[in-house]
Amino acid sequence: MALPSINPTQTKAWQQLSEIYSVEKETSILEHFKNESNRVEKFCVQFEDFLVDFSKNRLSEKAFQALMSLAQEVKLKEAIQAQFQGDVINQTEGRAVLHTALRSNSEINVEGEPIRQDVNAAKLKIKSFVEKVQNGEWKGFSGQPITDVVNIGIGGSDLGPQMVMDALSFYKNHLNVHFISNVDGDHVAETLKGLNPETTLCLVVSKSFGTQETLTNATTVRNWFLKHTTQDNIKLHFVAVSANVDKAEKFGISIENVFPMWDWVGGRFSLWSTVGLSIALGTSYDAFQDLLDGANEMDTHFKDEDFHNNIPVILGLLTVWYNNFYNAESEAIIPYTQYLQKLAPYLQQAIMESNGKGVDRLGNPVSYQTGNIVWGEPGTNSQHAFFQLLHQGTKLIPCDFIGYKHSLNDFTEHHNILMANFFAQTEALMNGKNEETVVNELEGKGMSKEDIDVLKPFKVFDGNRPTNTILINKLTPKSLGKLIAMYEHKIFVQGIVWNIFSYDQWGVELGKQLANKVLEDLNNEVMTPHDPSTTQLLKYFKE
Ligand code: F6P
Repeated sequence: MALPSINPTQTKAWQQLSEIYSVEKETSILEHFKNESNRVEKFCVQFEDFLVDFSKNRLSEKAFQALMSLAQEVKLKEAIQAQFQGDVINQTEGRAVLHTALRSNSEINVEGEPIRQDVNAAKLKIKSFVEKVQNGEWKGFSGQPITDVVNIGIGGSDLGPQMVMDALSFYKNHLNVHFISNVDGDHVAETLKGLNPETTLCLVVSKSFGTQETLTNATTVRNWFLKHTTQDNIKLHFVAVSANVDKAEKFGISIENVFPMWDWVGGRFSLWSTVGLSIALGTSYDAFQDLLDGANEMDTHFKDEDFHNNIPVILGLLTVWYNNFYNAESEAIIPYTQYLQKLAPYLQQAIMESNGKGVDRLGNPVSYQTGNIVWGEPGTNSQHAFFQLLHQGTKLIPCDFIGYKHSLNDFTEHHNILMANFFAQTEALMNGKNEETVVNELEGKGMSKEDIDVLKPFKVFDGNRPTNTILINKLTPKSLGKLIAMYEHKIFVQGIVWNIFSYDQWGVELGKQLANKVLEDLNNEVMTPHDPSTTQLLKYFKE
C-alpha cells in the first residue's frame, strides 16, 4: 500500500486545533494543571522501564484529543502498518523502510521475497567475526591481535554507531573504537597518530560505497597500511559494510570480508544492521542483540498500543502542535547523562534529514511548516551554556529532558545532584518566578525599594516553557535501543502528519554534485563559470 496523501490542514482535526489554539494560547501550563484534575495521571505513560511525563506542556485535554483525531484523520494507524509490513513507503526511491525488521524475529517479505534468512545470516557473520576479533583469534599482519577498530563512514554510517558506542562506554571491552568521518585530512591524520597498523582493524562503512568522504578516507588509511605492509595483508585489516558488494570488492576488500546490508535499510536508521558492527566489536555481540531487543520492544509498543498511551505518537503529535500552531521552530533534547553526549548530533541527522522536506506526498509545495530544528547538549553542562535563553529568551523551545533513575557508576552524590537539576529545571521552566516572589526575595536581602524597582524586571521568569520528562530506569543496551527507536517512530509520526516522504534525502545531492564540479575547478587551470561571489572566492583560494 502506498502512503495516503492527506493535507493535514484540510482535516477537521486541524480546524479544531486551530480553534483550540486561538482560545487556549494564553492559558498557561499552570492553569491547565488547575483546570484539569488528574492531569499528571492522564498525561503520563509508563511503558516497561520508561516513564514519560508530558503534563508540563501547553496542552489541554481538549487539544490532546484533537491531536489524537488528527492522527486518525491522516491515517497514522494504516501508515504504521504499511511500514511494518514492508510496503514501499519510501516511494521516491522505490524502497521499503524496514529497519524494524532487523530487530524482530518474525518473517517478512520485501517485494515478495522473505528476508529473515539473509538478516540472520548477516547477524551470524557479525557474531563469529566479533568473537574472533575479541578473543584474539583474528590477527594482524605481524601476528598480533587487534587492539583498535576504526570505523570509516559518514552520516548514518557514522553517527549512529558513534553515538551508541559513546552511550555504551560503560559496557565497552578492551578494543578501542575510533571514528573517521570528515573528509578533512586533519580528522584522519589525528586518528592515525595514535594507532599501530599491526593491530588496527578498519571497517569501511558505506551503504552505497560511493560516498566521496568515506572512499577518500578509506584510501588514505589503506595507503597508511601499505607503508607498513603488503597488499596481500590488507584483508587482515580491512572489512566493509555495504549494500554494494561489487564496489566494495573493486575497492580491494575481499568478498569474505564484506558484511551485507540492504536497500530497505535507510542510512540514518542503519545502526541496527551490519552498520552496527563497531558497536558489537566495542561491546559484545550480546550487548548489540540487547540493543536490538530493546528497539523491538519499542516497535511493538508503537505498533500495538492505543494512540492515547503510545509514546512516539504522543511525542510526535506534540511536536506538530508546537511547530504548526505555536510556530516553535526548534526543540532541544537534553539528556542528563554524559553518556548521551552524542544523542543530539545523531538525532539531527535522523530528524532533519528525514523531515526537512517542503513538498508533500503528491509533489506539491506544502503551505505549512514541516521539519523542525533539533539541538541539544547534556545537562548540567547545557544549563551553564544556553539555558539562559530557554528560561528568559523570546523564543519558545520545547525540550525533552531524558534522565535515569539509577546511575551506572557508584557515585550516589553526583547522581542526586545531577537529577536534582534535572527535576528542578523542568519545574523552573514551567513555574517561572513572578514579580512578587522577586520583590520578596530582594526585600529579604535588605535592598532598597528604588534598587528593587530597577532590578526586578531582569529577575522575573515568565515560565510556561514546555518540557517532556523521559525518566528511564537505567542506561543499558536494551533501554538505549528503546530510546533510539522511540525517536525513530516519532519522526515517522511527524512525517505522516506533515504528508511528506521522510525516507529520502534528495536535498543533500545538489551540494555533492556542485562539490565535484568545484573540485575540478580547483584542480584545473581554467575554471567553469560560477556566480561572481563563488568565482572570486575560488580565485582567492587558488592564488
Ligand atoms: O547524507 C546523505 C547520506 O546519503 C546519508 O543519508 C547517509 O547516511 C550518508 O550519506 C552516507 O551514505 P553511505 O552509507 O552510502 O556512504
